Amino acid sequence: GSNTFDFQDLGKIISIAKKNKILTAIDNTWGTPYFLKPIKLGFDMAIVSATKYYSGHSDVMGGSLAVNKKVFKQIQKTDKVCGMRMSPDDAYLITRGLRTLDVRLDRHRENAKKVSEFLSKYKNFKLLYPYKKDSVNFRMWKKYYSGASGLMGLRIKAKSKNSVVKFVNSLKLFGYGYSWGGFESLALYQDVREQGKRNFLKLAKNEHLVRLHIGLEDPNDLIADLKQALKHLK
Ligand SMILES: Cc1ncc(COP(=O)(O)O)c(C=O)c1O
Repeated sequence: GSNTFDFQDLGKIISIAKKNKILTAIDNTWGTPYFLKPIKLGFDMAIVSATKYYSGHSDVMGGSLAVNKKVFKQIQKTDKVCGMRMSPDDAYLITRGLRTLDVRLDRHRENAKKVSEFLSKYKNFKLLYPYKKDSVNFRMWKKYYSGASGLMGLRIKAKSKNSVVKFVNSLKLFGYGYSWGGFESLALYQDVREQGKRNFLKLAKNEHLVRLHIGLEDPNDLIADLKQALKHLK
């Protein structure tokens, strides 16, 4: 999901599962409860990785599991048996991060929209991010989410793979890291994501996938950085 950005019909999934007495869980790390409220929607469980927007500074290990009444007892039992506990330091940093979650996500969303508008001017790019009506999967995103965060996919048409790697490596303000959701922008060339049966995007030979996380920096600086790095694309 965090590469292909195919938003699924959540309501349909819930209704099929309910009919067949199947419990449902969703990974709500990208949207966070600020943009999507899964339990209200009818999911039994919602998982969020707190290493990302909850803490917001990429310096924490942790996660959260919200559940409805139906599964609470079952989860409580499993929790007791597994004995997984968070360290006080991590709990402190996550609680502190949560206090600014809305402010940060508003800025991630604004910055990501500005960067998307800039990137959409390039004909050899296809953005996998719901920033305007004709974006990929916009309709399904709009049906359930009240906002979009800072992570996006960028499908790039380029003959030379090396030039795409060079584009990513020439970015000065974007770090190179896997875990997103912090204050900083990140860029990652994603070839290992599309191997074997995990070939969701069915990229052609001259197509490449780059994942961008748009951080809290000045969007004009990010756009200027992308502009200079894009000169390497061939
Ligand atoms: C959508 C999503 N959920 C959950 C995770 C898990 O993150 P962590 O292992 O830091 O908890 C990731 C990691 O990149 C992710 O992209």
